[in-house]
Amino acid sequence: MKDTKDMPVILAVDDEPIILETFKAILDGQFKVLTARGGKEALDIIARESINLVFLDIKMPNMDGIEVLRKIKEYDENLSVIMATATDSARTAVEAMQLGACDYITKPFDVEKVKAVAANAIEREKLLKEVAYFRSQREEIRFDNIIGQSKRMKEVYRIVEKVIKNDATILVSGESGTGKELIARAIHFNSLRKDKPFIPIDCASIPENLLESELFGHERGAFTDATNQKLGMLELANEGTLFLDEISDLRFDMQAKLLRALEEKEIKRLGGIKIIKVDVRIISATNINLKRATKERKFREDLYYRLNVVPVCLPPLRERKEDIPSLIEHFLRAYNQAFRKKIEGLTKDALKNLIDYDWPGNIRELKNVIERLVALKDDGVITPKELPFDIFIKSRLARGFQAEGGLRDACKDFEKQYIEVVLERVDGNQIKAAKILGVHRNALFNKMKSLGLKN
Ligand SMILES: Nc1ncnc2c1ncn2[C@@H]1O[C@H](COP(=O)(O)OP(=O)(O)OP(=O)(O)O)[C@@H](O)[C@H]1O
Ligand SMILES: [Mg+2]
Repeated sequence: MKDTKDMPVILAVDDEPIILETFKAILDGQFKVLTARGGKEALDIIARESINLVFLDIKMPNMDGIEVLRKIKEYDENLSVIMATATDSARTAVEAMQLGACDYITKPFDVEKVKAVAANAIEREKLLKEVAYFRSQREEIRFDNIIGQSKRMKEVYRIVEKVIKNDATILVSGESGTGKELIARAIHFNSLRKDKPFIPIDCASIPENLLESELFGHERGAFTDATNQKLGMLELANEGTLFLDEISDLRFDMQAKLLRALEEKEIKRLGGIKIIKVDVRIISATNINLKRATKERKFREDLYYRLNVVPVCLPPLRERKEDIPSLIEHFLRAYNQAFRKKIEGLTKDALKNLIDYDWPGNIRELKNVIERLVALKDDGVITPKELPFDIFIKSRLARGFQAEGGLRDACKDFEKQYIEVVLERVDGNQIKAAKILGVHRNALFNKMKSLGLKN
């Protein structure tokens, strides 16, 4: 038998065994062909194996091809899918193309056509991957997409500069949305490893039972479902950088296995006997206090020390508010360009609102807010009333109110201010204000009267 190790892998999905046999007969030899009798089985295989191309039957019982296609695209939008259809269902084929299928073939199959379509799709996939790789390289290669000249950020740059050209292991910590992945990429793409892969692995989102084979890879037959050999992330990142995101979510037994691999700089694939040398730089990220996690015995202390050689702490946005204006300017420019808009900026008041707000979602939240503002407006200047409702309200209330004396007075004071801010937002329209406040307009009217607010 021919060695199938380096062949592109095709998954054929059809409820009729004879069709699957036909695919095998046509494509075997040039490709490695896996088969599935239905949508569910196909999705399981796709989650487990690295597949280069899927042939998908449109008409199947249980889950039909269109639904399977939708699920595949949700899982991996870059996976190429070719639909197989009976001649009379051209309309569904069109629908499939709109959903992201890259081509279709009609039954009964023309052998040469199937071969050509498969070869084309595989070639196209290869090109797309290369393009994506070079694009990500070009975008990430500089440091100037990291905005912020506050004292706290300068401290970060100072540390990063020192370690960028060596292979020091780095632990980036910071709240959600503070830019941990951004800094990790910047480090890699400015390091001596920049021409080698940057491989991110999100320890929180990969199912526990798959994580080990994701990290270390597996040999064909390592477990029941391993019909194919698969390279692990550690191996893929060889000579490059492995980014271990949300490292605190790594299960305890995996922590031990990872530690061993990092210390010995070698791995074995699951079910394999070969020892494979790996040379990777490790950057990990956490949004919890990992040191504390070690005290609570949730994280291995030895692994913690192994990962935390150089700590880089990203400050939350509320502790470096002086960076907010330049971040806004940066995102405005980017989204103006992306959406072809001409927003000139924000009014002084609106800017102050954004500075007052405390940004629990940090830079990601700020970026999303600006994206939404630019999407909803064509040109001119953004006013406070156009800001998202909760930011408008919270920033106003954050300016503080006099809570003196008893609880009753404090509540009254709060009610009064809250109603005032909501009214300001809706230009004094009491019907709209009552709706936002969740009370009847008569109740609002009475409340305003009792609080001494003008009607
Ligand atoms: N200093 C910065 N300048 C410009 N953009 C930034 C900066 N920091 C973060 N961003 C942007 O904010 C978004 C969130 O950043 P990133 O994904 O790196 O955060 P994270 O800390 O990894 O978040 P999480 O903990 O939620 O995974 C990204 O789109 C990133 O490009
Ligand atoms: Mg992240």
